[in-house]
Amino acid sequence: MSNLNIPANVTNQELIEWVTKTAEHCQPNDVYWCDGSEEEYNRLCEEMVASGTFIRLNPEKRPNSFLARSHPSDVARVEDRTYICSISKGDAGPTNNWMAPREMKDILNEKFRGCMTGRTMYVIPFCMGPIGSPISQFGVEISDSPYVVVNMKIMTRMGNEALEAMGDGEFVKCLHSVGMPLETGEKDVAWACSPDPKDKYIVHFPEERSIVSYGSGYGGNALLGKKCLALRIASTKGRDEGWLAEHMLIVGVESPDGKKDYVCAAFPSACGKTNFAMLIPPKPFQEEGWKVTTVGDDIAWIKPDEKGKLRAINPEFGFFGVAPGTNYKTNSNAMESIRANTIFTNVALTDDGDVWWEGMDGDKPAHAIDWQGNDWTPASDKPAAHPNARFTAPITQCPVVDEDFDNPKGVPVSAFIFGGRRNSVVPLVLQSFNWAFGVYMAATMGSEMTAAAFGNIGEVRRDPFAMLPFAGYHMGDYFSHWLDIGRSIPEPPRIFSVNWFRKGEDGKFLWNGFGDNMRILKWVVERSRGTSKGVETPLGWQPKYEHLDWRGIEDFTEEQFNKVMNLDRDMWLKEIAMHDDLFFKLYDRLPKEMAFIRELLVSNLWRQQELGLAPSRPEETEATKAVAK
Ligand code: OXD
Ligand code: MN
Repeated sequence: MSNLNIPANVTNQELIEWVTKTAEHCQPNDVYWCDGSEEEYNRLCEEMVASGTFIRLNPEKRPNSFLARSHPSDVARVEDRTYICSISKGDAGPTNNWMAPREMKDILNEKFRGCMTGRTMYVIPFCMGPIGSPISQFGVEISDSPYVVVNMKIMTRMGNEALEAMGDGEFVKCLHSVGMPLETGEKDVAWACSPDPKDKYIVHFPEERSIVSYGSGYGGNALLGKKCLALRIASTKGRDEGWLAEHMLIVGVESPDGKKDYVCAAFPSACGKTNFAMLIPPKPFQEEGWKVTTVGDDIAWIKPDEKGKLRAINPEFGFFGVAPGTNYKTNSNAMESIRANTIFTNVALTDDGDVWWEGMDGDKPAHAIDWQGNDWTPASDKPAAHPNARFTAPITQCPVVDEDFDNPKGVPVSAFIFGGRRNSVVPLVLQSFNWAFGVYMAATMGSEMTAAAFGNIGEVRRDPFAMLPFAGYHMGDYFSHWLDIGRSIPEPPRIFSVNWFRKGEDGKFLWNGFGDNMRILKWVVERSRGTSKGVETPLGWQPKYEHLDWRGIEDFTEEQFNKVMNLDRDMWLKEIAMHDDLFFKLYDRLPKEMAFIRELLVSNLWRQQELGLAPSRPEETEATKAVAK
């Protein structure tokens, strides 16, 4: 191996030692330290065009943009190969894969021995969050993938600026290899990875605050600043230090009088987070002066300031968004964000050198090359773009990026929103009575896996706080941490639950979503300001029809509103009984508040007849009797 090429501005001894040891072990052909410059980005992109990893898109249609096609086995995060290797198994909890750190390290040591042969080892210093922010964290990723380098350049503050701000301080070690060494003279493939699904490891050592990822080059498996550092490791650090690392978007909401509030919202993957993060208010709202601005679309780090006010930053610097379904009609801000300087992965290539995916505006192209490089026509029985095809684009290209997205102080948080994907039961919006009830609501959010017939609840996959795949420690401890945060600050933000996905008896969505979600967001913000009305129900506060702003809505009656808001007592009693499935799983560390709140909700539902908007069915069923006992 050639020398380590340590640049003069690297003084951090721990970093030097780690790079030295890793290079010895992984045996790369050479070591390259990334400076984060445009020149470096352009050069690496050119090199990837030459090697076949990238296709340069038509510069007139999509300037300075590229398409990558992954190996068909390497298209998404691999949750079953993701591990939290805490010292004690109990600390990882029952919702994470665990292995003893020593055992895992033995496996990984073997995997990494010589794994970079024939490749360049890139050293990628980066900062999650604005440089100079007390909430930000440094990381260094060592990777043998130039695709990772250029994506990290977009997704993080990467290079010399981060390296120099980090100085001799602490950083999270993030080691990544595609797991495909090259024999002497062996030709590389366009997308290197370990094609065996069992031969991938996404491993976190929470006590050491380090990450090791092997075998995948895709998304959250390989861009280690994102889910691995900013959620799994950071959530553990946040628990120890009194702050929160959350799977949340952050939006600014400005009313016509110029007052501005920031809202953090958690949704499971594939619930329209990017659309909500860049929400386009209905015309009458816009004309009146309502504005929604984007601070972040996926992750929020939230810390109490010296006065105990929660302040949030977006640790990322770009969007790694799902392309299919993105179009001008439903999210012109996302489409504008990806007009140039964007890396596309696994979308289709049109004959004029642009990109296409299912759900884009306009007609389907008569011919394209699909995400696997094959000819595609509308008659094909397979989608042209992979359903998890992505764009990587700088946040600065978003037309509605918030003026404070890069503010080291973060933005003040007025409210939290939690939203699952529920066909039934859960109403369009509900405000929790207080912080602890809000924690309960967020802890029990979920998505229906199977279609629910009317009057029946389908199988629900609980996804507490939308953090199930991302919490770096025991979910029960995570709930306790949230309860503690609420107790430690003078005026905790209000907590709301939303459900954009409720369906009617005919199986059709009851709510249009997209821009109309502004009506709910406005109510949320005004509730936080104490300026909008609501009524008390057994489960929380809800707006009545007349409490929401309906200007400009088409075809939506009060009757439809009542349907999408309905709290059915019987179904809620069943729903709450089902919460126990999750609670039993977490029993050894479940905070007692959860059980007490559950009982309170049951007795509210049982005893309070027809309060507010909650119609109850008069007849008692066996199920409701059982729950009420
Ligand atoms: C994501 C996810 O990619 O949540 O953001 O899966
Ligand atoms: Mn996400």
